[in-house]
Amino acid sequence: MRHDVLATLKATDGTVSGETLARALGISRVAVWKQVRELRSLGYRIESSSRGYQLLSVPDLPLPCEFPGWESKVHYFPVTESTMQPARLLARNGAAEGTLVIAGRQMAGRGRLDRSWVSPEGGIYMTLVLRPVLPPAHAPRVNLMVAVAVSAALEKLYRLSPQLKWPNDVLIQGRKLCGILAEMEAEADAVHFINVGIGLNANAHVTAETPDAVSLMELLGGPVNRVRLTREIVEQAQSRVTHLVSGVVLDEWRRRSITLGREVRIVGGETVTGIAVGIDGLGALLVRDSAGRVHEIVAGDCVHARH
Ligand code: BTN
Repeated sequence: MRHDVLATLKATDGTVSGETLARALGISRVAVWKQVRELRSLGYRIESSSRGYQLLSVPDLPLPCEFPGWESKVHYFPVTESTMQPARLLARNGAAEGTLVIAGRQMAGRGRLDRSWVSPEGGIYMTLVLRPVLPPAHAPRVNLMVAVAVSAALEKLYRLSPQLKWPNDVLIQGRKLCGILAEMEAEADAVHFINVGIGLNANAHVTAETPDAVSLMELLGGPVNRVRLTREIVEQAQSRVTHLVSGVVLDEWRRRSITLGREVRIVGGETVTGIAVGIDGLGALLVRDSAGRVHEIVAGDCVHARH
């Protein structure tokens, strides 16, 4: 209902009368007025006059009604602990692929390796439910795919040149813009779901707690439209889910990698130092140590040696 009122206001150039809206949507004028009041409380500026209603501006909030066609799959929380929690419940209860949990800010945002993810107002915080048809061992490919999807969105919308640091950090000019956290539930030979959490410093100020981070607002000199970027990232990811079994996504990742060819130190699991010589078909990083032995790294953190 709210979406229909909004869609009609958006499609109208100028003012539309309450009566026209009510008739077109098959509801009463009072019901129209209630929806207008709801939309205003969410930040939509709607002028009302004796001639009717006119939409003046929309807030930059990723509300379900900003995702026409898939609004029923979008769950928005102004504040939550972490989008990973509701997403896990939804996925366990059978939520369809493409279900998206978005938060305005997070009180207990989580990063990889038990780190926290500082999540103030202005950033993009979302978890996307994916159900790829893949053996669980191939799950790391999904992380790489989402990093590629985020990069492709940034390239398309802002002409940026993101660099990918294994496993799935998206950097610009060597500073971290976006982090990705994946959670999987699977049985021996089938993935039930992989929930991919994406945290992107869009219009949030980078704080002293995260000195190596950068925001889009800082890079572009002004705020970006988070709804548009969120939509683009999800579309880029969904267009790649069905290609996960092919090597295309891995090639896309390799092309943007700043890890390959570098001297790296792997920590947070097996500690290995050497040259990152490639990624294999699973998405694991191949590191050749000084003795010439090649280690296949499936998890951990990768520190680039500074040169
Ligand atoms: C990393 O350590 O680089 C991964 C950070 C992932 C942060 C995102 S924000 C949305 C989702 N909810 C969380 O609590 N974490 C992920």
